[in-house]
Amino acid sequence: MPGIVIVGAQWGDEGKGKITDLLAEHGDAVVRFQGGNNAGHTIVRGEEEWKLHLIPSGILYPGKRCVIGNGVVIDPKVLIEELDALRARRVDVSGLRISANAHLIMPYHLLLDSAGEAKLGSLQIGTTRRGIGPCYADKAARLGIRVQDLLDEKILKKKIVAAMEPKRLSLRPFEKDPTLDLHTMTEEYLTYGHRLEQHIADTARLMWELLDEDKKVIFEGAQGAMLDIDHGTYPFVTSSNPLSGAACVGTGVGPKDIDEVWGISKAYTTRVGAGPFPSELHEEMGETIRRRGGEFGTTTGRPRRTGWLDLVALRYAARLNTLTALVLTKLDVLSGLDRIQVCTSYRGAEGAEFEDFPYHQTVLHHTTAQLTELRGWSEDLGECRTLSDLPDGAREYLQFIEEHIGAPVTLIGVGPGRDQVVWTDAGRASMIGPGAGASAAA
Ligand code: GDP
Ligand code: IMO
Ligand code: MG
Repeated sequence: MPGIVIVGAQWGDEGKGKITDLLAEHGDAVVRFQGGNNAGHTIVRGEEEWKLHLIPSGILYPGKRCVIGNGVVIDPKVLIEELDALRARRVDVSGLRISANAHLIMPYHLLLDSAGEAKLGSLQIGTTRRGIGPCYADKAARLGIRVQDLLDEKILKKKIVAAMEPKRLSLRPFEKDPTLDLHTMTEEYLTYGHRLEQHIADTARLMWELLDEDKKVIFEGAQGAMLDIDHGTYPFVTSSNPLSGAACVGTGVGPKDIDEVWGISKAYTTRVGAGPFPSELHEEMGETIRRRGGEFGTTTGRPRRTGWLDLVALRYAARLNTLTALVLTKLDVLSGLDRIQVCTSYRGAEGAEFEDFPYHQTVLHHTTAQLTELRGWSEDLGECRTLSDLPDGAREYLQFIEEHIGAPVTLIGVGPGRDQVVWTDAGRASMIGPGAGASAAA
């Protein structure tokens, strides 16, 4: 089972970091394939908490090979800060490799991201303002600066000039910004190059070597399916493809190198930033879930919007990713609710019912969630470690989800801690070794 992809199946923040860290124990390498430091992945081990933005969530294992693939956009300043912070906590980061082909976030990308949002006014996307969109735009326009350019002063300077030229008008308000001075910027980025040089590599080749040796490679997604630039709720999306298919182009391997795709979903739904969210809860229940789930962004600290689990969107994500397994996190957050609602279809403005995710934005923006009510449970789940430890209501909830999604639930999160998970037989069989392939419902 050499290649396993972990993706967010909602709007991000599903708990990918925790699950990647957990599965990395059984893997040989962890590789990021898209996104940048718009991602915020939290890992809790005992009393310690780690927040990673660019570095793969396998880094906490000494010597584990961690790779930042070509599909990632890298803010080198943030990467160096993250490396320094990990070193200060005695984490061995020597196993990190960075693709020479990955694109760099430049100071003008940060300024343009914020300026773009300000210009949009009430239509703004609510980006993380980390320069992600403008950086991917330059990549597509073939004006990007890549990691390898950091190692050649002449090329770096030339490329910066070429990249800034067509932006002159939009950068005019920042004329006096010292970060945009060509000399300062070149010197700064050359310094980053020196700092990162030991980690820069031909990572595609490294991937082939690992996979050819039958090593287990974990592809760690950032964001989630509904933020996908092609298939998500455009334009309220990120600028990359957080889908399993992107694991290939974002690292340099083919689809046949992927054996499994695990989609991560919370037991409810959250979204940061603007855009449609049919099952959103505006009243007290939304606040209750936000408070209990600690739903505040890892990257920007913004309160996350909350809502019931949306099975229409989750089925869509399962198909887009060809999920072979579903991981359900934060089930513990729903403890203590008498009744739990689940969105099983959408109702359009003219009364039509949609069981499939509507492709047209006008339809989607005017849908309301049709809810099915299930019984809840009162017990705390934090200590549950097997399916039979879970109360009947929680098991029924899992079964309901599994039946609607058509992928087996392999892991259930019952708290932020690394050990706070329930493995199903299906999960154990595919990740740890042979065994009965029973489902969560069993
Ligand atoms: P990611 O971006 O997908 O890696 O997710 P984040 O780290 O941004 O957000 C998930 C949050 O939920 C983090 O604070 C995790 O520590 C926490 N978390 C993950 N799994 C569970 C779980 O099963 N239960 C609870 N209560 N918290 C969890
Ligand atoms: P992880 O990996 C949740 C959202 C932003 C905004 C939109 C576009 O932690 O799940 P961008 O800065 O990417 O141009 O913003 O995407 N967004 C995320 N939401 N989790 C993330 O990452 C996100 N990364 C971007 O809030 O709505
Ligand atoms: Mg996050």
